[in-house]
Amino acid sequence: MNDKKWLFSGIQPSGEIHIGNYLGAITNWVKLQDEYNCIFCVVDYHSITIPYDIKEMRSRIFNACADLLSCGIDPDKSLLFVQSMVPEHTELAWILASATSLGDLERMTQFKDKAAQFKKNVNAGLFTYPILQTADIVLYKAEAVPVGEDQVQHIELAREIVRRFNSRYGDIFPEPKELVKPGARIMGLDGSGKMSKSKNNAIGILEEKEDIWKKLAPAKTDENRKRLSDPGDPEKCNIYTLHNFFSSKQDIDWAAEGCKSAGIGCIDCKKRLLESIDETLKPIREKRKVYNQKPELVWEIIEKNADKCRKIASKTINEVKKAMGLLK
Ligand code: AQP
Repeated sequence: MNDKKWLFSGIQPSGEIHIGNYLGAITNWVKLQDEYNCIFCVVDYHSITIPYDIKEMRSRIFNACADLLSCGIDPDKSLLFVQSMVPEHTELAWILASATSLGDLERMTQFKDKAAQFKKNVNAGLFTYPILQTADIVLYKAEAVPVGEDQVQHIELAREIVRRFNSRYGDIFPEPKELVKPGARIMGLDGSGKMSKSKNNAIGILEEKEDIWKKLAPAKTDENRKRLSDPGDPEKCNIYTLHNFFSSKQDIDWAAEGCKSAGIGCIDCKKRLLESIDETLKPIREKRKVYNQKPELVWEIIEKNADKCRKIASKTINEVKKAMGLLK
């Protein structure tokens, strides 16, 4: 094995992967593959904390894996697998629960948001989500965790859990550190909060151009621009934020100037954005078609990598049990 540090990150199979996931996390994952030993995980146990259709779960898991491969996760460089195939994740989560304070869990913004979104299903899994997330990371002694800004609070808590655990049982785990792309908190198209798989406010990474347009055309822009002649503030506009990620410098400047001077309308600005988004997503769609035709390619990768991950995971669990005075 080389002397590179370990990196872990996950994504839930809770719906179609969207451009928020892509910009906030996946583009960073792809970039970091040469710098770290990377483990990327489709975290299905996390996704059962919200209501889902049982009949759809298997295809959702497949889709998430195939999407990640199509976005550039390279199976020759990184380990991509599915969380529930390595039972040590949940085993370690139970152990770490004893090193987690209830008060810390209660402060988590994601729990509050999800509890409000799914009022009829506020379950304990939703509450203890950050403990399982900590287990996911430290099971592989990962030090780097590339996530979107919305997950930073969870990684801070992961560090706290590690500190408590290590102070009781010895220096077993390194403290994980988040790697965040600045500004990459992508808001939903309706302007009502972050872009989410489980809300109807996202552009999926596999959507065709016509479908993207159906979503972009009515998307919220700067509220103060009510008429074409009203100048706008690009910094208050989600469309401009998206230009910053998808478009050329020339188009970003064109959008900013045109908005501030009322020289262009929001529809012109959205049409130009549509071209940039489509250009970025087209190669992903093309690659994805190959995995649709040959799904066995995806399952082979997942099986093989889960085997490798189980070996690492069981070594860590043995070390943990020994340190805690438990039987192997
Ligand atoms: N809107 C976003 N902007 C930037 N980054 C985002 N991420 C999610 N939404 C945005 C990042 O994508 C990675 C995977 O997310 P996840 O699937 O683990 O869970 P999530 O954060 O709860 O994502 P969603 O899309 O909002 O799913 P649901 O609707 O199921 O809750 C993470 O690194 C996350 O930061």
